Amino acid sequence: MTQLMELKQDFVQRFGGIEADIMVFHAPGRVNLIGEHTDYNGGSVFPAALTFGTTLLIAPRNDRKLGFASTNFPLMKEIPLENVTFAEEDDWANYPKGVVWELKQRGIDLSQGYSFLFHGEIPNGAGLSSSASIEVVTAFALLSMEGKPTDTVQIALWSQHAENEFIGVKCGIMDQFAVANGRKDHAILLDCDTLKYELVPFESGEYKLVIGNTNKRRGLVDSKYNERRSQCDQAVQDLKQAFPELTLLGQLTLEQYEANEHLIQDETVRRRARHVVEEIHRVGRSMEVLTNNDLEAFGKLMNASHDSLRDLYEVTGVELDTMVDAARSVPGVLGSRMTGAGFGGCTVSLVHQDSVEKFIADVGKQYEAATGLTPAFYVCDIGDGVHQIKEEA
Ligand code: GLA
Repeated sequence: MTQLMELKQDFVQRFGGIEADIMVFHAPGRVNLIGEHTDYNGGSVFPAALTFGTTLLIAPRNDRKLGFASTNFPLMKEIPLENVTFAEEDDWANYPKGVVWELKQRGIDLSQGYSFLFHGEIPNGAGLSSSASIEVVTAFALLSMEGKPTDTVQIALWSQHAENEFIGVKCGIMDQFAVANGRKDHAILLDCDTLKYELVPFESGEYKLVIGNTNKRRGLVDSKYNERRSQCDQAVQDLKQAFPELTLLGQLTLEQYEANEHLIQDETVRRRARHVVEEIHRVGRSMEVLTNNDLEAFGKLMNASHDSLRDLYEVTGVELDTMVDAARSVPGVLGSRMTGAGFGGCTVSLVHQDSVEKFIADVGKQYEAATGLTPAFYVCDIGDGVHQIKEEA
């Protein structure tokens, strides 16, 4: 029996009904290759969708209720369609609820109730966008079921808004955008100010992207994340002396920034701002070197990105730094960096295909010896953004 057949049986056992009424959708997780903590500063990012993510089975019901279940968590929740509000005890179910709430804000009232079964393959809290994946798959599925347009840029914006306002996490647009708009074998060069984007074939030849999960839970991530955001706002305020129209750090070139950095009063704020402006510059450089297929140069930019996130933006921590140092010590590794918000979560490394096995063994051993935590590794293929699954997988 395929996994999808099993999931459909599971759905019917939980909610009743018949398998023929179940529709299936999938949204991936994402890995960001470079451009970290630049999205909410109006800079550019370079993420890619993964081949694993969240599968959603959904069917209409006739009692005007929403029923939520997951194969990952025991919590099952049933709520009336008319009463979608945030509730701490609803835990993960707040993500799909947030999307229903968001659709309502946008004038889309669901015509009927639905049952949802989520099947998540993204490790929780690993910084691979499991929450964006749930939001985007929910939005895409509900719009499809209701016969509404499924514009994936709009779905990304609405999902981000649900996360910002319903969940209360002030994330930027990168995660939802990548999950909604990814394409197999392509990374997405996204300008987070204008939302102009380009799908760039990611041809890494003999090199593989290897994700390393530190398995360090990202404690306090929201408060530290929001603190970084306000430090960036502070930098903009100070720089307004020279650029009265400035609203986002990403509007400055590296040269403009360097000529005016002294206007930023606080030394910590200055380091945060420098990271942002240099990181955006590194994304631009990455496009130049990747056009020439210069993976070695791209690896160096990945390393520089991590070092800046460690020293200037200070969002890495001992686990991520240990894993990155171990990765860089393995021959055949062109670059290694943290990916996502930081404070734990995952690294991404560019590793020669002949070295992958040794990489996993050596990095695993060194990391475990230094931290006492057992890591996990995923050799990563780049997959498609959100879509409907129409046939048996
Ligand atoms: C998290 C946020 C994104 C982005 C990254 C850092 O993943 O959700 O919007 O800010 O951190 O680059």
